[in-house]
Amino acid sequence: MFRIAVMVSGGGTNLQAIIDAIDSGVITDTEIAVVISNNKDAYALERAKKAGIKAVCVSRKEIPDRAEYNKALLRAVDEAEVDLVVLAGFLVVIPEEMIQKYRNKIINIHPSLIPSFCGTGYYGLKVHEGALARGVKVSGATVHFVDEGTDTGPIILQKAVEIKDDDTPEVLQRRIMEQAEWKLLPEAINLLAHDKITVVDGVTKRK
Ligand code: GRF
Repeated sequence: MFRIAVMVSGGGTNLQAIIDAIDSGVITDTEIAVVISNNKDAYALERAKKAGIKAVCVSRKEIPDRAEYNKALLRAVDEAEVDLVVLAGFLVVIPEEMIQKYRNKIINIHPSLIPSFCGTGYYGLKVHEGALARGVKVSGATVHFVDEGTDTGPIILQKAVEIKDDDTPEVLQRRIMEQAEWKLLPEAINLLAHDKITVVDGVTKRK
């Protein structure tokens, strides 16, 4: 079994998409060993409990010291003994020690076509506000490996989504989730679970 940890901060619709994809056989030979949240009120924790998945909270509020917090986060991931860490709307910066230890074993979903509308400051609705303000006609989602930069790691999968003239950031966010994120993240996990992706010089290739 390929074991994954899913890290969340909010609603957890991407987590739900992974749970559903495992149940329906879109993702095979894979189990969610743990869901880790930085926020005890994240609805994602409820989703995990309802699905019978171990859920833990490593709260930033309870561990204000950054170095201590980073250690606690790494400990939570280490304890789960996973093959892959999936960031599904996780809003805490991943500690460098974890990135090094889990090189090409941490993936993130970002709601734009990287390298557009990504990097520091582009999170949540800000990504979609940026796309609408620039007037791009296509946006989408990207699954990528996590490296030391912000949204700079090797790209695994991307999917384009059309932008409509009357879109609001909220409407666009929802369309990108429905048409891209909820499909792309399970697809990427399944590819990795079956060892179908390799990274050469910062670029991924299908094996
Ligand atoms: C998604 O838009 C994801 O791309 C971004 O944060 C959001 C998380 O939503 N990084 P949810 O918690 O999975 O519903």
